[in-house]
Amino acid sequence: NDIEKGTYPHYMLKEIEEQPAVIRQIISHYQDKDGMIQFDQAIQKEIVEADRLYIIACGTSYHAGLIGKQLFEHVAHKPTEVHVASEFLYNMPLLSEKPLFIFISQSGETADSRGVLVKIKQLGYKAITITNVPGSTLSREADYTLHTHAGPEIAVASTKAYTAQMAVLALLSAQVATLNQFEIGFDPVQELSIVANAMESVIDKKEKIEEISRGILSISRNCFFIGRGIDYAVCLEGALKLKEISYIQAEGFAGGELKHGTIALIEKNTPVIALASQEHVNGSIRSNVKEVEARGANTCIISMEGLDRNDDRFVFPRVHKLLTPLAAIIPFQLIAYYAALHRGCDVDKPRNLAKSVTVE
Ligand code: G6P
Repeated sequence: NDIEKGTYPHYMLKEIEEQPAVIRQIISHYQDKDGMIQFDQAIQKEIVEADRLYIIACGTSYHAGLIGKQLFEHVAHKPTEVHVASEFLYNMPLLSEKPLFIFISQSGETADSRGVLVKIKQLGYKAITITNVPGSTLSREADYTLHTHAGPEIAVASTKAYTAQMAVLALLSAQVATLNQFEIGFDPVQELSIVANAMESVIDKKEKIEEISRGILSISRNCFFIGRGIDYAVCLEGALKLKEISYIQAEGFAGGELKHGTIALIEKNTPVIALASQEHVNGSIRSNVKEVEARGANTCIISMEGLDRNDDRFVFPRVHKLLTPLAAIIPFQLIAYYAALHRGCDVDKPRNLAKSVTVE
């Protein structure tokens, strides 16, 4: 295993740094010889014909699903719901007339997700599995598989599989939009290439993120991540990364909802990390930051170029507004990585967790 890690101290850091290459790999895997994006015709047909998509996943893959919903709804105009697999079976929503299920799973072996797949197959519905392991259980048992081409992910905390899942979802939603002749106004291949470059530029500045992580998290027992719109979903994943490997209690919160209760937890020096990558909420998320600062919070704003202001602690390069999660998650992954490292935690094998959970 040490050989595969090469010069990296941890698989997690290696996998974080592989992300730009993974995005480029996904583009080339889904491009035909003329450079056009192509998916299996049957998959495209199923999505076009479905009246509603049901994304089923757990953990980090669920968080990628939340971004998938934004992409399918905003780019492809396809109503989409996202469900945590372990809840779906016991609390099944009313299904539409022509539902299509999309399972997202890095390992393809998660028992909670498989439980849902077995059930919906019994009900006679179709399923696509988006996975990093073709040939896995969820891949074999679904009608169709889409491969995320991220290469083996060894660290328990998922990083490159998450961005790979979102990249595949972005290409897929753009493809469905094109088939429906919706004007999407951007070239997904070009925009994902810009994302890969942005990821690289963040990784190049990892020392700066290490400093931020040390400054804000060195003695904290808890931390909040706040964002609005699509940034909120990224905050959920940022908080999960931090919890998983550093054991700091972290919570991702919608910027506007914080004041309805949770703000009671803010005291002197409570770390609050805010994400500002969305123009339409740039003013309001910054007001939320002011609200917690007034209560003593130790705040840190991570923003996207063009929306940045003087005091922002880290600014990442501009990418398409629906693809910001792919770039914005990199500083969050690195913040978590360094927090765990500085605390002497076992970064690649955190306590109580398994890479894939094959029990319900
Ligand atoms: C486990 C892992 C998580 C992962 C989740 C879903 O709990 O520790 O990192 O996100 O399973 O895994 P999957 O392989 O289905 O994406």
